[in-house]
Amino acid sequence: MKLSNLPSRLVLLSLGAIVYAQNSSSTFCSTLAERHIINLAQAGEAIAAAQQQASSIRVSASIAVTDPAGFLVAFARNDNARLLSVDVSQRKARTVSLFAGAFTTAALYNLTQPGAALFGITETNGGLVALGGGVPVFRDGFFIGAIGVSGGSSDQDVTIATAGAQAVGSLTQSRI
Ligand SMILES: *[C@@H]1O[C@H](CO)[C@@H](O)[C@H](O)[C@H]1NC(C)=O
Ligand SMILES: *[C@@H]1O[C@H](CO)[C@@H](O)[C@H](O)[C@H]1NC(C)=O
Repeated sequence: MKLSNLPSRLVLLSLGAIVYAQNSSSTFCSTLAERHIINLAQAGEAIAAAQQQASSIRVSASIAVTDPAGFLVAFARNDNARLLSVDVSQRKARTVSLFAGAFTTAALYNLTQPGAALFGITETNGGLVALGGGVPVFRDGFFIGAIGVSGGSSDQDVTIATAGAQAVGSLTQSRI
């Protein structure tokens, strides 16, 4: 290679890299399998299934879906859901995400009581919620997001969130 050709070759190389990057799904991890992040369509399916469950047990609920980092992907509030459920549902989902799906919020309840191992943790991260209704969503063995439900009793919220999670994945890490 002649030295004089070097700059143009470098330009071509970098253009090639850009084109490759634009076409390479791995560069931006744009497919679900690569990202392991719940997508909007799945979040919508989860919310629909959760809403159906909520309606069948006559609970007016807020339902939130977060990604593995705890950011909101989708949210729905039933017309008659209590206003506090808007925030609580999102915090339940975020709580599960910040634990990377290791706990449901129901399981955190005992763990966060005075004297228990995680007592005080709910005061961190802007406020976590350790009441039933937050569940993880695993798919193909990966934690892809979380669902938080608020509006009914703790057990009702768990039932609703579980229906949502099972519509798109599993509550445990085992492959489906
Ligand atoms: C990028 O991908 C598209 C669609 O697969 C293809 O038509 C195009 O030729 C590709 N471009 C390059 C530079 O590889
Ligand atoms: C929480 O503790 C109570 C009693 O201390 C026990 O009955 C219950 O099973 C525990 N719940 C969980 C989810 O571990």
